[in-house]
Amino acid sequence: MSDFERTAVQWYPGHMTKARRDIEASLPLVDAVCEILDARIPMSSRNPDIDTLAAGKPRLVILNRVDLADPDVTARWRQWFKRGGLYVLETDAKSGRGVDKFPQALKTVLKDKIEHYESRGQTGRPLKAMILGIPNVGKSTFINKAARRKAALAGDRPGVTRGRQWITVDERIVLLDTPGILWPRFDSVEVGEALALTGAVKDEIFDRESLAAGFLSRMARTAPEVIAARYKFTPSPEKNGYEMLADAARGRGFLISRGEPDTERAANIILNEYRGGKLGRLSLEAPPEAE
Ligand code: G4P
Repeated sequence: MSDFERTAVQWYPGHMTKARRDIEASLPLVDAVCEILDARIPMSSRNPDIDTLAAGKPRLVILNRVDLADPDVTARWRQWFKRGGLYVLETDAKSGRGVDKFPQALKTVLKDKIEHYESRGQTGRPLKAMILGIPNVGKSTFINKAARRKAALAGDRPGVTRGRQWITVDERIVLLDTPGILWPRFDSVEVGEALALTGAVKDEIFDRESLAAGFLSRMARTAPEVIAARYKFTPSPEKNGYEMLADAARGRGFLISRGEPDTERAANIILNEYRGGKLGRLSLEAPPEAE
């Protein structure tokens, strides 16, 4: 069994059952669910069961970390979700960019519900929403920004049980202060790789050299010029990822004795630079081309 499969097994059934139970307990209390995805990997960061879980609830898709994603690719994703009937908000929760548009986006998603409440004279009735997403996608950061507060959330304090609390976003909108933690996809090694590259799952499930080699193979197809400029070699989809990792080590002058490329050092640098945004705004997944 690979380390990736072992991690998948750890999620089932214990974690997943608990996560599902927590979400199912909260869903009846809310008018809408807001599903946060990583804009660089909207497919891989989507929970595989979200359509079933959130069935019947108005939904908002939040593409977060747009500061790290290619803006053109993000625009294509927005269209892609829209074609699937889902409204999209783009955010950089870390700086707060886009989060100010959250109340309006939620009111758009809840238009029918608002009209229904108003037809019954319930004009001031609060609109309740919850945030859902896989670990580390930015849920807590988003909630704190939406509520304009700095405090850490309950998730940071293990063992503290509290009643459900609502936090005010504006005069009309309240948010469940504890986000729903969804289980990640474990469909394939490619998905696992995408999750590990963006920091959604821990590095240990892949060795860093394999991960960096996989990253270079992806980039050789989608952004070869970025890799060429930064690591001083010519990437090509025909080359093997490990071969390119060695090229990158040589390109950057990372050598061990006898001039052998230090691929371990190169891998660490590449992963850190990608995650830190030093390579620019690079998406790892593009939507399927429209038929
Ligand atoms: P979670 O609740 O879903 O588990 O995620 P959380 O908010 O804890 O965010 C995980 C990490 O992602 C945090 O970084 C957070 O700052 C960062 N983050 C969240 N949203 C964005 C975004 O839109 N853009 C960028 N660039 N980063 C984002 P950290 O390394 O854990 O902490 P720190 O760097 O903030 O100190």
